[in-house]
Amino acid sequence: MKSVLHLNGRTVEVEAPAGRTLLEYLREQELYSVKHGCDHGECGACAVLVDDRPHNACQLLLPLLTNRRVETLEHLDASGELTPLRDAFLDHGAAQCGFCTPGMLIVAVALRRQGGSLDEARVREALTGTLCRCTGYVKPVQAILAAEEPE
Ligand code: FES
Ligand code: FES
Repeated sequence: MKSVLHLNGRTVEVEAPAGRTLLEYLREQELYSVKHGCDHGECGACAVLVDDRPHNACQLLLPLLTNRRVETLEHLDASGELTPLRDAFLDHGAAQCGFCTPGMLIVAVALRRQGGSLDEARVREALTGTLCRCTGYVKPVQAILAAEEPE
């Protein structure tokens, strides 16, 4: 079985045997921004955007992704969309070990695409699926809010 999906701006045809996850495929494509953490949908380290919303790639089966639009940080970085968030994370020291950072950035991009005003409560709620053992979430939340502010 094959699946045709839109990955990082390209249309790709992927072998999609039952049980093959998007995370397995993305790592084979050397898209290493997508971390392989718990493998059980609990840590959020493997988050990617699917049709503008964050999803855990370890829980997505390739046969179900036909015609869906998948984006990783590599693509968001190349397009420049990541730049304000990345700069804010650096300015605020928001990454410590950094393992959770890609997932947090994916969540933050999704929030920005949704539009509307951001406040701490909304950012914290959005980050509930992203497990961070190091920061207490304080600096990442500050960084995501700061990226919204006009320069
Ligand atoms: S590796 Fe996917 S949620 Fe943890
Ligand atoms: S910075 Fe270490 S897990 Fe988040």
